Parts: sequence; structure tokens; C-alpha cells
Amino acid sequence: MNDLIQKAAQDLVSAKKAIALTGAGISVESGIPPFRGPGGLWEKIDPLEFAHIDAFMKDPAKVWNFFIKEMKELLDNARPNDAHKSLARLEELGIVKTIITQNVDGLHQIAGNTDVIEFHGNFAWQRCLDCDERFETIKLDVSQIPPRCSCGGIYKPDCVFFGEIIPPHHLLRSEQVASACTIMLVIGTSAEVHPAALMPVIAKQAGAKVIEINLEKTFLTQKTSDYIIMGKAGEIMKRLTSEVERLL
Ligand code: OAD
Repeated sequence: MNDLIQKAAQDLVSAKKAIALTGAGISVESGIPPFRGPGGLWEKIDPLEFAHIDAFMKDPAKVWNFFIKEMKELLDNARPNDAHKSLARLEELGIVKTIITQNVDGLHQIAGNTDVIEFHGNFAWQRCLDCDERFETIKLDVSQIPPRCSCGGIYKPDCVFFGEIIPPHHLLRSEQVASACTIMLVIGTSAEVHPAALMPVIAKQAGAKVIEINLEKTFLTQKTSDYIIMGKAGEIMKRLTSEVERLL
């Protein structure tokens, strides 16, 4: 692993434009469970019953009670871990330019990254289904479920549910940065959900190096990634960033 960290540090130092694609695995060390794999959310609840837009529209109170309320508690209290902080440091050093994240926890921005494409939206905001007003999740009164806007409409987290489209401007910009980067770090994603999982493929086809950081191999490992550094994102990103600082 040490050799790969050194190799990745050298690749990053010589990169003209590095970007990152992140997934739930990067926030596990912040206390937020992933979706798939051991301890994953989808082991406990069926995404079609709780994370699909049709399920929300059919019974918003059920989805709020058994899914969103718990997410709110987790995300209200989550703090960036070493992996988020390292990506912020790599931006400060002028290496990482943009992060495309599938996460809705806002931890990259809290850590200090300034160009974050929130591919699946942001849980920090709710949107009223009637008047379209946005409201901050942290200020939301959840004593009444489902929570309602002053106009009487139901609030839905401003995130992409299954069955909803990716906001076109996020998709377009992600495709642009993926096809223009020279290195893409792919951190803590199973790469099972499209179109997010296509971004490394776009980067690779445009000539970029793709470096995965994950506990285990993914769909990208065999054909798309140049190499994978296996281990916890926080630990690896901290060591990688120290190595980059040493080389600069
Ligand atoms: P997943 O839960 O599918 O995958 C998490 C990945 O992180 C797995 O490959 C794990 O091996 C890896 N992992 C877990 N802990 C880790 C750690 N400490 N360090 C490094 N890697 C670790 O999460 P995503 O790929 O983000 O979409 O899932 C994509 C989308 O599926 C989510 O955005 C969400 C979900 O359904 C929507 O809700 C629309």
C-alpha cells in the first residue's frame, strides 16, 4: 500500500487538473453508514419503499418517520473526517479543482472545498412540494410529521430520490469536468448507481488516470481504474496528502 500511496502522490503532484468523485464510503468515518455492503442502509430498509419518489408521494409521513428523520439526526451532527479534510487541503495546494459528490451530507463544503458538484442534491435543504420554497433542514420542526411549509405544503429533502432525474446542470457540469481532468480520484463509491458511476468512465476515455480508494474492489477496478488503493478513506487520504506535501 505504501508504494501505491507514493505513486498516487507523484501522479497528483504532476497532474494538471485533478478532480474527485466521492460516495458514501468517504463519510463512513464521520458516522454516516453507507448504502450497500455490511452495515449498509439498504440492508435495513428497502430503497424502493423509502427512497423512491413514488413512495414519498404516496406516503410522505411513512418515509419521514422511518427514513428521513433518522437521516436528519445523523447528518445534523456529522463532521468532516480526515478524508474530507485532505481533499480540502489538496484544493488549497492547487491540486484538486472540483469534487463531484454523490453524498448529500455537505461535508466537503464544511471541510473547505469550494467547487463541489452535489450530484444527488443536498440534505441541508428542504423544498416545499407546493410553493417550491427552500428551508434549512437544521431549523426544521420535526415534531409534526410530515413537516410542512408555512403555505401548508409538505417538505421533501432537496435530494435526488430514486425515480427522479439528476439536475441537468449538475450532470452537464460533471460530464464537462470529468472529460477535462487529468486525474480522477474515486473515493468510497461502489459505482453501482448511474449516471454518477459513468463519470470515471468518461474521464478514462478522455485520457485521465483513474485512482480508486476503497475498502474493496468495485465495478470500476478491473476495466476503468488505473489502480486501487485499498483501505479506509480517512487513513489513506491523510497519508496521501502528507506525501504530496513532502513532494511539493
Ligand atoms: P455505496 O453504499 O453503494 O458504496 C459505498 C462504498 O464505499 C463501497 O464500495 C464500500 O466498499 C466503500 N467504503 C465503505 N467504507 C469505506 C471507508 N471507510 N473508506 C473507503 N471506502 C469505504 O455508496 P455510493 O456508491 O455513494 O443515491 O452509492 C451511490 C448512491 O446509491 C447514493 O448516492 C445513493 C444510493 O442509493 C441516491 O440516494 C439517489
